[in-house]
Amino acid sequence: MKAIRIHEFGPPEVMKWEEVPDPRPGGQQVVVKIGAVGVNPVETYIRSGAYARLPVLPFTPGNDAAGVVEAVGEGVERVKAGDRVFLTGTISGAYAEKALCLETQVHPLPEKITFAQGAGVPTPYSAAYRALFQRAKAIPGEIVMVHGATGGVGIAAIQMAKASGMRVIGTGGTEKGRLLIAEQGAHHVLDHHAPGYLEKAIAFTGGRGIDVIVELLANVNLGKDLTVLARGGRVVVVGSRGPVEINPRDAMARDGAILGMLVTNASEGESRSIHAALVAGLESGTLRPMVGQEFPLREAVRAHRRILEPGAFGKIVLIP
Ligand SMILES: NC(=O)c1ccc[n+]([C@@H]2O[C@H](COP(=O)([O-])OP(=O)(O)OC[C@H]3O[C@@H](n4cnc5c(N)ncnc54)[C@H](OP(=O)(O)O)[C@@H]3O)[C@@H](O)[C@H]2O)c1
Repeated sequence: MKAIRIHEFGPPEVMKWEEVPDPRPGGQQVVVKIGAVGVNPVETYIRSGAYARLPVLPFTPGNDAAGVVEAVGEGVERVKAGDRVFLTGTISGAYAEKALCLETQVHPLPEKITFAQGAGVPTPYSAAYRALFQRAKAIPGEIVMVHGATGGVGIAAIQMAKASGMRVIGTGGTEKGRLLIAEQGAHHVLDHHAPGYLEKAIAFTGGRGIDVIVELLANVNLGKDLTVLARGGRVVVVGSRGPVEINPRDAMARDGAILGMLVTNASEGESRSIHAALVAGLESGTLRPMVGQEFPLREAVRAHRRILEPGAFGKIVLIP
């Protein structure tokens, strides 16, 4: 089969399209023929070598994909050959025509969800779920602001918060992105580059402040976030690309909390809850992954450049 291989950390061009041996399933393992691969910003950090946990070279990047089970190893009970699935991780890497997975990394993909949509589920929807429910413990009736709502995680967070009965504010950097946020059901949409936009957010809350902020770019926004929280408000830091200065008094004055979050920190039990919620949400239709752009898998270099540019619009996926 063909796969993207990385032999050295560096710019997007270190990703090479190569022939590799087909994977064979061992006990409790599954081989999936991949229909689409989800691209996440973290894969660009890992590829460049600028990430705390780096894989051993050479490797095939990627965690998120959807496809069809091709073969199962001994002892596999949850899936069989021919089943449509999405993957929350792999053993062999997702940027490939096939992936070797643990049985626990493979989840049923409803008929109405395409492979491209399914590839947009794992990391973004897990992050949104963990941020809203496991870290912020957001509840129906609260006001949630998704600060950076136009990309993979942001769209997922808007859909989940809306479906759970929260009042939702979403921010986007382009007109096209803001229209998308409105289409996803946000009650109020703001431009995170416009002067005074956070005053509009406060006005939307009737002056009370925001209960939960899902923050996708904390190095730019964390200091400002603390000034618009309601009493007892929480900021969940999902994304950050550098340091930031805050005034701790802004948190003190509001009994506010800053909560860090990594999907990969979820315990086994928390991961099981996340995956059950994702499967249920896909089946019920409350979760509707939005694919903005598709690239051929062999052109992963272009996708890695695109995902770091401004103007997000749903998910970027690769098609083998
Ligand atoms: N902690 C975790 O476990 C975890 C999991 C998944 C992702 N993440 C991180 O979360 C971040 C977003 O991931 P993603 O997959 O959603 O990426 P993405 O699809 O590329 O979206 C990036 C988002 O950031 C927004 N943004 C840009 N400038 C902003 C600003 N000044 N203020 C607020 N938002 C701004 C973009 O909005 P516009 O383009 O419309 O301006 C867009 O909505 C990344 O840093 C990623 O590494 C963390």
